[in-house]
Amino acid sequence: MKGFVFDLDGVITDTAKYHYEAWKELADQLGISIDLKFNEQLKGISRMDSLERILAHGNKQSAYMQEEKEAFAAQKNEAYVQLLQNLTPADLLPGVAEFLKEAKAKKMPCAIASASKNAPFILEKLGVIDLFDAIVDPATLTKGKPDPEIFVKAAESIGIKPEEAIGFEDAQAGIAGIKACGMYAIGVLADEPLTQADRTVHSLAELNMDELIAL
Ligand code: G6P
Ligand code: MG
Repeated sequence: MKGFVFDLDGVITDTAKYHYEAWKELADQLGISIDLKFNEQLKGISRMDSLERILAHGNKQSAYMQEEKEAFAAQKNEAYVQLLQNLTPADLLPGVAEFLKEAKAKKMPCAIASASKNAPFILEKLGVIDLFDAIVDPATLTKGKPDPEIFVKAAESIGIKPEEAIGFEDAQAGIAGIKACGMYAIGVLADEPLTQADRTVHSLAELNMDELIAL
């Protein structure tokens, strides 16, 4: 193996709870009830696609014009970014800082494959942006997860083939995308089993990097 590809939300830091909080506030306002179980379906899904799923869940997919939908998505993002203001390096998930530093020392390149347009801001706040060699810009993608496009681009961005990379994901859609391009998939922090993952861990601290490189 020659490099690592990471999802952000739920792998590097637990921002999934903030996404949920911000979506729930908007859903309540629209009279749509969402819960944590429904939220699982939103993991890894882009901002506009998440909104569409919430509207469909409330049978309101045709109730709004495109402009109104864009305003809802912007409102959600404002609430979300507000919740991110207090992020610090202490919000890195267990083992992440150590893993990234070891990767740097061992010259194993690391890329971010996240649908989040807030990824650079979050990585700055967490103090780890310099430990990544590349961040895929989600604005350049034609398809979201579970399509493998983002993972293929991430491998390309660090100059390796998908099958030479290990991908980390907390969402089922992400694991599906990783496997669809022949990457090795490690499922992280999953409350529910991630089918298709080659391996599942609760934290990156459980992993031995030399064993991963030797895969
Ligand atoms: C990640 C998260 C999703 C989120 C998406 C877009 O994939 O798992 O919950 O909707 O990023 O994030 P953004 O910060 O651009 O709204
Ligand atoms: Mg995630």
